[in-house]
Amino acid sequence: MKSKESHLRSVIKGISWRFIATTDIFLIVLLITCLYGKCSFENAIKIGAIEFILKLLIYYLHERIWQFFTILNNVSKKKIIIKSVSWRIVGTTTTFIITGAVLKNFYEAAFFIALLELISKFILYYFHERVWLKIPFGYLNNIKIKHMNKNIISHEFYVTKKQRNKLNNHTSFVIWFTGLSGAGKSTIANALESKLNDNSIHTYLLDGDNVRQGLNVDLTFSQEDRAENIRRIAEVSSLLIDAGLVVLSAFVSPYIKDRMMVKSKVKDINFIEIFVDTPLEECMRRDTKGLYGKAKKGLIKDFTGINAPYERPENPNLRIDTTKSTVDEAVNMILNTIETKLEKSIL
Ligand code: ADX
Repeated sequence: MKSKESHLRSVIKGISWRFIATTDIFLIVLLITCLYGKCSFENAIKIGAIEFILKLLIYYLHERIWQFFTILNNVSKKKIIIKSVSWRIVGTTTTFIITGAVLKNFYEAAFFIALLELISKFILYYFHERVWLKIPFGYLNNIKIKHMNKNIISHEFYVTKKQRNKLNNHTSFVIWFTGLSGAGKSTIANALESKLNDNSIHTYLLDGDNVRQGLNVDLTFSQEDRAENIRRIAEVSSLLIDAGLVVLSAFVSPYIKDRMMVKSKVKDINFIEIFVDTPLEECMRRDTKGLYGKAKKGLIKDFTGINAPYERPENPNLRIDTTKSTVDEAVNMILNTIETKLEKSIL
């Protein structure tokens, strides 16, 4: 399977982590050597510098190796924790060796340095991963390109997106609805589109159940096919944004990486994420399409929420709990969220 993160992302992420990690080890060495009554600024710098270079390389390799764990390819808190543990084993062992070598017969201190490093870095690494999860840069489309498109050269057209926006009197972006099947994404998107249409906003609604009967009729619900489903929708959404429309995309889109890929494709500023957060129990109770019943009997495989995961958005622009708000209230909440974006757009 092709890696889903670019090399450049791994490199930049590695450098960002190195700065945090080096500061951490520098302070720890200084603290421990001082506690032993042998304060050594020089050793702290030396260890920091060796660590910086050596671990930059090891961290990069660790990142790349983790790209191959397809079973854990989905980004979840669980995966981050397992990855953090794996990196800590590699990282702390390296620190112990470097510290022991630099401080020479100072093994007890090396042990305490490694221990303190283990605890502090475990926490820091977890948060560093969480922060990077929110940065869409460098998520690849994961498409296997069959024909190299080196002979395809983009054309510059006279009419630009800006001109289309001007004609429409509003900017264009995508309102991305994510949530379990039966959460109410399409219902809310439908009502919202109506309201926008009444207000002379040019829109288009893309919906999983419909798109999967045409453009994406060849795709299953495996993790790979879902990624391809979302990749195509990201491309279509991007074209429609360019065409000047406010796009409403309602897809389960259960994987954070896939949603980040959309964000990366259409650009941050054009991506509004709405998490339709209806609890699984409620979706199962409603079971409007009868799919949960079938999935529970084992008749549907890879069914989100039953035998396939749903990764909740970490930081959606809006979270709607449909057990607490009506469709009209949900629509109003979204209108409030996009109001300034639309107002700003009246050119
Ligand atoms: S996605 O995961 O790839 O984003 P998408 O939104 O296109 O899913 O399609 C989800 C719709 O397909 C659901 O609303 C549901 O009606 C139907 N469906 C059929 N099989 C599944 C399944 N295994 N998992 C989730 N939805 C399914």
